[in-house]
Amino acid sequence: MPTKALAKKSAAKKPQPKKDGLTEAQIAVHWKEEGDIRPPARFIAQANLNDPQMVERFSEKNFPECFREYAELLHWDQYWHTTLDTSRPPFWKWFVGGKLNASYNCVDRHLAKYKNKAAFIFVPEPEDEGHTVITFQELYRRVNEVAAMLRDFAGLKKGDRVTIHMPMIPELPITMLACARLGVIHSVVFGGFSGEACGLRAADSGSRILIYTDGYHRNGRWVDHKASADIAVKTAEKEGQSIDKVLIWRRYPHKYSSETPMIMQRDFFINDVLKEYRNAVVEPVSMDAEDPLFLMYTSGTTGKPKGCQHRTGGYLAYVAGTSKYYQDIHPEDVYWCMADIGWITGHSYIVYGPLALAATSVLYEGVPQFPDAGRPWRIAERLAVNIFHTSPTAIRMLRKAGGDEPQKHNYRFKHMTTVGEPIEPEVWRWYYEVVGKGEAVIVDTWWQTETGGFLCTTKPALDAMKPGSAGPACLGIYPVIWDENGKEVLAAAHAAGNICIRNPWPGIMQTIWGDPQRFVNNYYKKYNADPNSKDWRDWPYYAADGAVLAPDGYYRILGRVDDVINVAGHRLGTKELESACLTLPEIAEAAVVPVVDDVKGRVPEIYVSLKPGVHSNRAITEKIVATIETMIGKIARPKRIHIVPDMPKTRSGKIMRRVLAAISNRMDTGDITTLANPDIVEQVRQIVQGRERGPLAEGPEDIKLFGEDR
Ligand code: WTA
Repeated sequence: MPTKALAKKSAAKKPQPKKDGLTEAQIAVHWKEEGDIRPPARFIAQANLNDPQMVERFSEKNFPECFREYAELLHWDQYWHTTLDTSRPPFWKWFVGGKLNASYNCVDRHLAKYKNKAAFIFVPEPEDEGHTVITFQELYRRVNEVAAMLRDFAGLKKGDRVTIHMPMIPELPITMLACARLGVIHSVVFGGFSGEACGLRAADSGSRILIYTDGYHRNGRWVDHKASADIAVKTAEKEGQSIDKVLIWRRYPHKYSSETPMIMQRDFFINDVLKEYRNAVVEPVSMDAEDPLFLMYTSGTTGKPKGCQHRTGGYLAYVAGTSKYYQDIHPEDVYWCMADIGWITGHSYIVYGPLALAATSVLYEGVPQFPDAGRPWRIAERLAVNIFHTSPTAIRMLRKAGGDEPQKHNYRFKHMTTVGEPIEPEVWRWYYEVVGKGEAVIVDTWWQTETGGFLCTTKPALDAMKPGSAGPACLGIYPVIWDENGKEVLAAAHAAGNICIRNPWPGIMQTIWGDPQRFVNNYYKKYNADPNSKDWRDWPYYAADGAVLAPDGYYRILGRVDDVINVAGHRLGTKELESACLTLPEIAEAAVVPVVDDVKGRVPEIYVSLKPGVHSNRAITEKIVATIETMIGKIARPKRIHIVPDMPKTRSGKIMRRVLAAISNRMDTGDITTLANPDIVEQVRQIVQGRERGPLAEGPEDIKLFGEDR
């Protein structure tokens, strides 16, 4: 997709048809359409979505009232009077006048029928530790005790923010639900992020309290997580946000498992403080439907992560509805979403959606292939998991490490999900045939942190599956693809464009925390013709993903069109990585590009040029890796670092990341004659690829689109 510069150019002159009949504002795509796969009929009889009228009820003429059906899955303390208020676009209000509590909806209301049912089955990474079952009754007790502690010991109240930096242990959802019970806004930071990343997010959200764990197991190693807490506090303080208390869960309740000293008057063990609150009961605070439930930070077009703010009523309704109809969760299922709660997938489809439906969920601490690639299938067999949810990266990894492992295990899935990045058709087929044993339905769910829940996916078992395509829009979602000039890219155009959602829906974020203007600019400005319009039809949501529409109405997602690299399904801002490099005194310039990786989909590769007088050496690359790991986290570790004499640049001095991305991926660098320094391209190519010119790769669409020319 063209950048703003190109868009301006296209707007200034009439779009010129190119050789293939497309205009400059369009992107040609060439892959062949995959055939349909029909899942087993057996699924349909039990499917929650097996109601022929459902699609009709969610048709556009019934918008927005159709979403009442999702809201009615919840318990409301007070019923709403207006389903959707659009008086201040694009700040929509859902279920206005309604009051509810998310913790009550996920826990208390299930007690009557399900108090002895497992809410979570926790599987620690070390296999000899077995697993622990937490029933709804136990969850209720623990959530109440923690809520009492947060209120009376930490002094938290409705509207306060708390930053939670924890791994995948039951205390994480318990803490989130305790916050929700009080109306405290939680901001969970992925456990694998660094203390610094946590501190910046804590400062942005204005959190006075941090919640941590002393440590956890990860890929056979013990991670001393408390060490991050000290860094987070310092970072937050540098940003002007003081932290009053750090509350620490012990991973093993009776012993402290970190080498880092506790700081008097600041650090407290939750396990000890909780003794004061045994069997405490906290009345859930009745929240307005529009009161924020949580913040989730994500990367976007500028360096600073954005705190996506999600509302209580609309969000909970949307994740409950989509969990019911697309995850097909029934109370008697055993559901396992192998994502991390520290990302939006975990919030929506481990914690809030499934618990709102009284699901039994598996919570796994570790990495999928520990100690070997048979682990997930042993867990599935042992716990009788029948719904399985993971990402293309995990699927690729498990396929590579143990392609025939699933066959050796006697589990049976009825339903599987893939989420977070595009899945290659070959990988999809392995998932279907080997993991799903040819009988499980697959849903490929496309959505984003901002959107709260699914936007496109097939209706499980009711729609045919097409490997590599997310599928049609979800109930009540009306997408459209536009080119840079705002012209609709129709089905069968063999062209990609920007996928947008024409209408508001209850799961969409409310705003960016503390920066409403950025919310408007990032997501609504691009295709809004009249900023004064009060009509929601004038405010389509811009997703910043490239997509293609097939004649059968299926959307295939190409990936991000902004400066974001999707590593193993997680969004990393290239600018964040570049700024991290530039904190080193030796570095003059840095550029980060995506490279194709067999397992993780895309990984960052870094180009740097050094300041005059600095000589290239190994220590510099090591310093760059260390800096990235401390400032962002191991997840952002670059595949390779190239020290180059100069960067290819436009005449106005902009680094041509498109050219670097082409070199890293051995693709054609395209037209470089307009560069300010075209000769550097061959020099850089030799540094990266060696003197010999190997064959060029065709390369995937998103890499072709990366950088300057989108
Ligand atoms: C990408 C994760 C292809 C997309 C839920 C989106 C996908 C970004 C899919 C959001 C999918 C997510 N097929 N691409 N099924 N799901 N993406 O915010 O580029 O971490 O914009 O939310 O992941 O990532 P985020």
